[in-house]
Amino acid sequence: MNVRSFQQFKQAGHSISMVTCYDHWSAKILNKSDIDCLLVGDSLAVVMHGFDSTVHATIEMMVMHAAAVARGATEKFIIADMPFLSCSKGLEPAMDAVQQLMHAGAHAVKIEGASHQLPLIKQIVEAGVPVMGHLGLTPQSIHTMGGHKVQGKKEGDAERLITDAAALEAAGCFSLVLECIPTNLGRQISDSLTIPTIGIGAGPCTNGQVLVLQDLLGVNPEFTPKFLRRYADSYGSILEGVNHFHRDVVSHCYPSHRESYK
Ligand code: KIV
Repeated sequence: MNVRSFQQFKQAGHSISMVTCYDHWSAKILNKSDIDCLLVGDSLAVVMHGFDSTVHATIEMMVMHAAAVARGATEKFIIADMPFLSCSKGLEPAMDAVQQLMHAGAHAVKIEGASHQLPLIKQIVEAGVPVMGHLGLTPQSIHTMGGHKVQGKKEGDAERLITDAAALEAAGCFSLVLECIPTNLGRQISDSLTIPTIGIGAGPCTNGQVLVLQDLLGVNPEFTPKFLRRYADSYGSILEGVNHFHRDVVSHCYPSHRESYK
């Protein structure tokens, strides 16, 4: 998959699958998977570093994780998030951040929001870097939104999102993440664009779906948003695997002679 495949997939009615990836070992597994593309999402601040929001992701964190992913997922198209405020301090620092992510091995960057980002998005695209947009619930603005709430429920808000989506396409975005919006709005935006939309909590009518890898693998049983489907019980299997090791150690069952050097 490359940046051109996104539009081709939409034209062919082929749904795009994306998952987040933050580290080398999972990148190596995902590299062998059928998943279309990987997102080094700023959600890594929460999932990998234990912060309470993505506001805490820094460019240094994003670069380190993007590089680890790129070294493992050599065959995948990798998109990296521009972290909190990295697009709001002027053109030069923003372009520096883009450069660092691309040098780390990303093939595209993702930027949250629309109106105030449009001139920057145009500059990045003109500089030769593909940009993925992100509308709806934009977690970097969590304090403005007053929490993780479904967006675009009111008519005015929905219309603003439709206009923003069109502006992002016009600015040159190659695709657009739609997060936590009603199904009808997800369909309306997807139908109104030529670039593909990739939804998370945006219903079944977007042109693709993205989930946080750890969420779909069931690593955190306490995280239960309505949109999440779990495809594994990793919490249970990791706990069982580690406890099994512990039992074997305390009962002197591990290591055996075959697992020991002569
Ligand atoms: O950072 C992230 O994981 C994301 C996805 C939720 C789309 O932006």
